[in-house]
Amino acid sequence: MVHADASNFAANITKEEAYQQVLDQAEGLFYEQRNWVCNLSNCAALLWHAFKSLPAPSNQVNWAGFYTLNHPSSTELILGPFQGKVACQTIAFGRGVCGAAASTKTTQLVPDVDAFPGHIACDGDSKSEIVVPIVVDDKVVAIIDVDCAELNGFDEVDQVWLEKLAGLVGRSCDWP
Ligand code: SME
Repeated sequence: MVHADASNFAANITKEEAYQQVLDQAEGLFYEQRNWVCNLSNCAALLWHAFKSLPAPSNQVNWAGFYTLNHPSSTELILGPFQGKVACQTIAFGRGVCGAAASTKTTQLVPDVDAFPGHIACDGDSKSEIVVPIVVDDKVVAIIDVDCAELNGFDEVDQVWLEKLAGLVGRSCDWP
């Protein structure tokens, strides 16, 4: 199979099946590869194509990617590999949805971004958002961020599977 085929998702698959394919393909791509730029870039592409293959609201995802840290003791997130429009480059821990996930080490499932105090609007089209911390040895090394142009774009299924992806990514990369 050529690499690009890893991002082909069959029509009519369920969200669970799409996430399972993301995890399986990611695990294959991570084989003998621990570079975080390389692995997060392919993960962002897998997520993007998975969401686009699903019915609404998932196919209304307008941003999917990662924020990482510049150095181990940093308390500021910096933009990592993503799919979607140009985004905010740095976010302090504690600021916005991403910063809340980073400072609390817990997933932020936000059905309506306008109701989230301090939400950072990188793109006015985004209506809902999910942010999952990637924690290695009790330390946040990155976060997964996905935005949707519809309200209630994400649910507990997204949370469960993105947390599995965060676990896989966390143990599969060497972090700055
Ligand atoms: N909305 C995020 C900022 C990042 S963008 O959505 C890509 C936040 O509030 O942290």
